[in-house]
Amino acid sequence: MNEHVQTASTAPLFDPLSPEFIRDPYPHYERLRTTDPMHQTPLGNFVASRHAEASLVLRDKRFGKDYVERSIRRYGPKIMEEPVFRSMSHWMLQQDPPDHTRLRGLVVKAFTARRVEDMRPRIQQIVDQTLDAIVGQGQMDLIEDFAFRLPVTIICDMLGIPEDHREVFYKSSRDGGRLLDPVPMTPAEIEQANAGNLMAQTYFQQLFELRRKSPGDDLTTQLVQAEEDGSKLSNEELTANIILLFGAGHETTVNLIGNGLLALHRNPDQLALLKANPALITNAIEEFLRYDSSVQLTGRVALEDIDDLGGKKIPKGESVLCLLGSANRDPAVYPDRPDRLDIVRPNVRPLSFGGGIHFCLGAQLARIEAEVAISTLLRRLPELRLDDVENPEWRPTFVLRGLKRLPASW
Ligand code: HEM
Repeated sequence: MNEHVQTASTAPLFDPLSPEFIRDPYPHYERLRTTDPMHQTPLGNFVASRHAEASLVLRDKRFGKDYVERSIRRYGPKIMEEPVFRSMSHWMLQQDPPDHTRLRGLVVKAFTARRVEDMRPRIQQIVDQTLDAIVGQGQMDLIEDFAFRLPVTIICDMLGIPEDHREVFYKSSRDGGRLLDPVPMTPAEIEQANAGNLMAQTYFQQLFELRRKSPGDDLTTQLVQAEEDGSKLSNEELTANIILLFGAGHETTVNLIGNGLLALHRNPDQLALLKANPALITNAIEEFLRYDSSVQLTGRVALEDIDDLGGKKIPKGESVLCLLGSANRDPAVYPDRPDRLDIVRPNVRPLSFGGGIHFCLGAQLARIEAEVAISTLLRRLPELRLDDVENPEWRPTFVLRGLKRLPASW
């Protein structure tokens, strides 16, 4: 017998970039929750797979981001010389208070429920225009031709990126996701990420110049003005956070729409229910977020020694990886068949947007974009079917879970 053959019970408990994990992480999560819910990986990270510990860590002040220290522990002291890591260290997402509070405070007003609800007509217009261009074709890739265009257009609108600059963003390769995975990157991957970061920095510096000369009603103008004030944000922080908003603003939402459409077509009873009752869309989106989250994990570092977290001691400086996708299927919170898609499930409160001070800024925007995109698609193309429901091609990243393509015809 080949001793390298791994059976389900001998495979490592947490091997997030393995093809089996990427294809279907949920049986692996169940094994983690039931056999070792605070599993420690060979790299020293603790993997919190139950809802109780994952949600506690996100909200507990004894945990923080400690990004620079965390990166040095993982890669060694020279890692902060890599431009892409230096840039990410300025993301609000990677900051602890007080810097996090300052940076988030500069943009939070653009994301209030009211401001986002006001964007609904524009969101509907983009979805309609996208569909107008393809309904006559009889086939499309739901990711590239449909899901991708909406969030990219919306975040370009919000950042004040002129229409004639956008083509390059519509063609972007969406390779940045690897930066977030809990498996160290190779030097070649770091090089590639540096190149992507440099391109983005170069473009956004041009946009800042444009918005300094001709201010608009957009987030870039707002942040450029805050930078000019001198005390509120540095040029490096400005650039890094615009890049964060641009990436966070589309990659995750494309995948919410894609993963949601796949889940619906794998569960024809739920698809039929939603088609017959379009008003169920709001609850259906929460269930899509729970059932197959487009963000699977986010991490925190223990800022002090923790005596007991799910039965384990967490020494100061160690990381806890909160498995959002696993927490979302924890039977302790969802006792009624958590592995089943149920668009009328009551009390769905997925952890997919995180929790605590870093709770996703774009949560409500993402919900409305997905709501409008999926309900309009079902209404305008009721005959649409997926070409391959069983084995669609997933992107090779773990934290950002989404499909490479999802061919469909009608
Ligand atoms: C933070 C998920 C859409 C902007 C987060 C976090 C999660 C998340 C889990 C918290 C990470 C942590 O605690 O470490 C998602 C999902 C989305 C989505 C699942 C779509 C389905 C968006 C959109 C935008 C956005 C549309 C912007 C237009 C941000 C920003 C942060 C963030 C700026 C950092 C907030 C902070 O650190 O205070 N997101 N996101 N996200 N998200 Fe989202």
